[in-house]
Amino acid sequence: MLIPLLLLACSGLTTAENGLAGWLRYAPIPGAAHHHGSLPSHVVALNDSTISPVYTAGQELERGIRSIFGKSCNVHYGHFPHGHLPGFSSVVVGTLEAYSDAYGDLTDVPELIEGGFWLSTKGQHVQILGQNERGTLYGAFEYLSMLAQGNTTEVAYAANPDAPIRWTNEWDNMDGSIERGFAGESIFFADGGIVGNLTRAAEYARLLASIRINAVVVNNVNANATLLSPQNLDGLARIADVFRPYGVQVGISLYFSSPASAVPGRASLTTFDPLDDTVKSWWGNVTRDIYQRIPDFAGYLVKANSEGQPGPLTYNRTLAEGAALFSKPLQPYGGIVMFRAFVYDYQTLNESDWTADRANAAVDYFRPLDGEFDNNVVIQIKYGPIDFQVREPASPLFADIPNSNTAIELQITQEYLGQQCHLLYWAPLWKEILDTDLRADNKASYVKDIVSGQRFNKPLGGYAGVSNVGMNDTWLGSHLSMSNLYAFGRLAWNPSQDVVDILQDWTRLTFTLDTSVIDTITQMSMESWPAYENYSGNLGIQTLTDILYTHYGPNPQSQDGNSWGQWTRADGFSIGMDRTVSNGTGFAGQYPDEVAQMYEDIATTPDNLLLWFHHVNYTHVLKSGVSVIQDFYDQHYAGAQTAQTFVTAWNSLKGKIDDERWTDQLFRQVYQAGHSIVWRDAITNFYHNLSGIPDEAGRVGNYPSRIEAESMTLDGYKLYEVSPFEAASNYTAIVTSSNTTAGTASTALDYDSGTYDIAVNYYDMDGGASHYVLSISDEVVGEWTSNFKPHIGNQTAPRVLGHAQSSYVDGHSAIRITFSDVTIVKGDTLKIVGTPDGNEPAPLDYVSVLKPGMID
Ligand code: GCU
Repeated sequence: MLIPLLLLACSGLTTAENGLAGWLRYAPIPGAAHHHGSLPSHVVALNDSTISPVYTAGQELERGIRSIFGKSCNVHYGHFPHGHLPGFSSVVVGTLEAYSDAYGDLTDVPELIEGGFWLSTKGQHVQILGQNERGTLYGAFEYLSMLAQGNTTEVAYAANPDAPIRWTNEWDNMDGSIERGFAGESIFFADGGIVGNLTRAAEYARLLASIRINAVVVNNVNANATLLSPQNLDGLARIADVFRPYGVQVGISLYFSSPASAVPGRASLTTFDPLDDTVKSWWGNVTRDIYQRIPDFAGYLVKANSEGQPGPLTYNRTLAEGAALFSKPLQPYGGIVMFRAFVYDYQTLNESDWTADRANAAVDYFRPLDGEFDNNVVIQIKYGPIDFQVREPASPLFADIPNSNTAIELQITQEYLGQQCHLLYWAPLWKEILDTDLRADNKASYVKDIVSGQRFNKPLGGYAGVSNVGMNDTWLGSHLSMSNLYAFGRLAWNPSQDVVDILQDWTRLTFTLDTSVIDTITQMSMESWPAYENYSGNLGIQTLTDILYTHYGPNPQSQDGNSWGQWTRADGFSIGMDRTVSNGTGFAGQYPDEVAQMYEDIATTPDNLLLWFHHVNYTHVLKSGVSVIQDFYDQHYAGAQTAQTFVTAWNSLKGKIDDERWTDQLFRQVYQAGHSIVWRDAITNFYHNLSGIPDEAGRVGNYPSRIEAESMTLDGYKLYEVSPFEAASNYTAIVTSSNTTAGTASTALDYDSGTYDIAVNYYDMDGGASHYVLSISDEVVGEWTSNFKPHIGNQTAPRVLGHAQSSYVDGHSAIRITFSDVTIVKGDTLKIVGTPDGNEPAPLDYVSVLKPGMID
């Protein structure tokens, strides 16, 4: 028995750096042994129930101290000894109440509120005392976070949460897929039910508890009624059971017309009218059935009358009447309804109406209802008025419903922001929104103080983060994306924290205490949002992605001409949404006066939101002195340029962090560097084409190192006009003439003899894995398969791009592979043989022959 156990332990060690442990690695710190004398030798956890978070705290402390310092501690569960503190050094961890019961009152602990804790590392006994059990566990994780960062200083302080609601939302479907998830299958659901093995769910709860998240809504806001079957509620109770020791509660999203849907084991009604008595009792029964199984159930999340979902408006009832359908039955149990403000009509909005505006919808719907929601209803508001865009102003709704509880909805998953295949640290964006002063009644009204309940004196409020973790070892699909989950928890607890401090704590815990690594990851992460904004859509025009398809690659045209309302109103001369009161949609007027006036006037609107609020000519001169169109060009080039530097930066970390994670992230940075050029070229060409205004720097439309595939000698390949046109260099690609036979594209290289990097831009489509061979004068330079696993160097490890896949030759599938240090003799023949597979006709766009350091 011993040997297999030892083997297991060893293999656990070697696979520990796959990302699964997140920031809870408890990696040994340098000089650990020196600390042994000053570390406690015992842990006294003042609770012996294995489902108590206090018990978990005891286990976690033992595990952490052993792993970080190599020091074993004895753990005692329950009051030990009773009456007076133990005679040996210890960590005493428990609720303040349990501590007082066992050892008498402490006088120096400030007031703690729900989830708060006291941490004192002074003296012989470290005290970790929570206002409740969950708070106790938070305190234990705080102490371990200090230790894991090598901080053994003496501290004594209390910490309290800024807001009571700190939830994640998971958009998991019952079949195991995840909407806008980029890290594999669900950890909760498969085949219409709850998975049997909930190990990952428990590990997730552990990560969440360490960042003080107190509930998870486990299923998609686009919910499925069958979750409410008795059998699935049993499964839900199993999830609650594995969450409970971590102080994490379960909540669910509801499908509004569930009573009229087929739910196994439940009566089906002919109506879902919220004022109908049979409907009310239907929901009453569901709520009772849930609480019978899960007494600490958190509550419901409701997406109603949004994007085709049914809701109270279907019966001409108000949204408040709809919310009451759930808040009433939840009240006796202390449950909460998170009612989403993401309500808009996506079918009849007409762009030819200059005053039409999707951004107006939330305030139009909810302001008249302010005061009509029950006390246990929280209006969950996306940070911006549209939809998780790279730049939006804070939603005015935060300031407009002072008599309602509110929460801010943030996205941790990067739906519109690179889908975990582009680096993006969200926290600076969140912070900008949270720090926005909306000036309600001409008084300081920061978004963070509104959602905490402080500004308008509301009992409830807080944070919902759309996380969408999956079965992938990295949880979110890439190692660096996990800084977002970590930062979400940290900011939800205390939004005044500095986003660089948060990031650096995360980096130390996730990677290393080595300052050069911390500096590099800080620089990359802090540059990531500006870079992405610059190459995907600057000046407040929003993420110019394909909003009708995958929300991933560039497609500016998809924004307009449809009723989704994410319009740019771009024509040959001008661009931007006029949201003024004087001449536009009136949206600016939804803000309290001072803010409304600022956005109303072009002179006081910040440049980074110019096109969000105003419609201007491309020649309009910005505060920076540059025209709108030239700024488009300049920033798209600057953003893509920054993305190239991430590769160099990450390369500098080789050997400083484990190879496994280093290689995986390098793969992503190389990919991003290539795809940022796709973005840059698509957006600049699109507006160049539309406006006819040349780039003053002569870059747009001029690519000196490129050989277009369509200009090569083709055999078995044919020209293909790409749609949207801007997704191909020179608007044209080539595809094989048949979907079974290989094609060849060749050309003589008219370059001085020397060493070059050769980049090949091709398309990696869903539904096929074409094969390519690149050779120079018949010597093979490289070969690769187009299967979302682009190679770097000579690596063979299977690494997958988790972004939404596209079945077309377009901006999502466009991708670049680069071969470095290739020797060329003038006149050499470059040849690419592409073998199609399935629906993928080995598409090729161009080849760039690059002198070292060139980007083209
Ligand atoms: C976005 C997202 C959808 C999601 C919706 C929502 O539109 O693309 O996948 O369902 O937001 O938040 O409800």
